[in-house]
Amino acid sequence: MYTISVINQKGGVGKTVTTVNLAAALKEQGHEPIVIDYDPQMNATDWLLGREATDEDDTIFDALATLDGEDADAFSLAHIVRTSDAVGVDFVPSDRRMAAASFDSVVGRSAVFPQQFRHRVQELRTAQVSTNSVSSKNYDYCLVDCPPSLGRSIATALAGSDGIIVPIHADRFSMRGVSQLQKTIKQIRQVHNDGLRILGLLPNNLDLRSGMVANMKDKFQEVYDDILFDTFIRWRSKINEAATHGKNIMEYDTDAADFYRSLAEEVTERAQIATAA
Ligand SMILES: Nc1ncnc2c1ncn2[C@@H]1O[C@H](COP(=O)(O)OP(=O)(O)OP(=O)(O)O)[C@@H](O)[C@H]1O
Ligand SMILES: [Mg+2]
Repeated sequence: MYTISVINQKGGVGKTVTTVNLAAALKEQGHEPIVIDYDPQMNATDWLLGREATDEDDTIFDALATLDGEDADAFSLAHIVRTSDAVGVDFVPSDRRMAAASFDSVVGRSAVFPQQFRHRVQELRTAQVSTNSVSSKNYDYCLVDCPPSLGRSIATALAGSDGIIVPIHADRFSMRGVSQLQKTIKQIRQVHNDGLRILGLLPNNLDLRSGMVANMKDKFQEVYDDILFDTFIRWRSKINEAATHGKNIMEYDTDAADFYRSLAEEVTERAQIATAA
């Protein structure tokens, strides 16, 4: 199983849309993806669950917080995974306790915590998962929808990931954000996970009719050519609609779905190359 965190410290750049739509595209192409919502905003959870989560729903926070306790098995990812009726992929919900403040107070051991997500992901690699709809599965891609931050919770997600996808807007501030992000990734590699790779930067929300955006696209290609995906996601109202109404983009709009089909192909190709390297 190849684990990919979708990150960017900037809010609203398309992390959640990328995570969910990429999962739907991978599923369509015969893969078995699982989405983990790591964001206390719970946007992916609402989308995939088709309703607001309640306290009854088991979440990624439960999985992390119980790791050293008697309940460790009951809250393994394999036991709390669900299947999304809306999008047809499996997922693990998030909850509000994933916000940084509670992270510190509940777990309180920064030296250990980065390993906990990794441990849960490792378990999932070998687990035969039972869900409501499928008796047993082996996931091949795990996609982690991260909150807009570069703080502690991101460090834990990255410590357990093989690759990173970074959705970005084509503007000058986003370019600055990328160098900040590269610094963080370097630190994570040194301290927690030397296998972590940037799978790619994914320009999102492009409106090429705007001359400024077209210029920025060229600039991105010049500066980040080695890590840029060939796939660019254009601005499409249907992408926003599918997210807002909790739909599967593959069924909702063919034109928009094609962006994610192309991304899924690139991701699988790059993940294989990264694994072989
Ligand atoms: N290519 C696109 N075309 C049209 N709308 C888009 C596109 N990408 C994202 N959006 C819309 O932009 C908004 C932000 O997207 P999204 O929630 O995926 O960003 P995010 O990075 O996950 O945000 P946050 O940092 O708050 O978690 C959403 O309303 C989404 O539907
Ligand atoms: Mg989001």
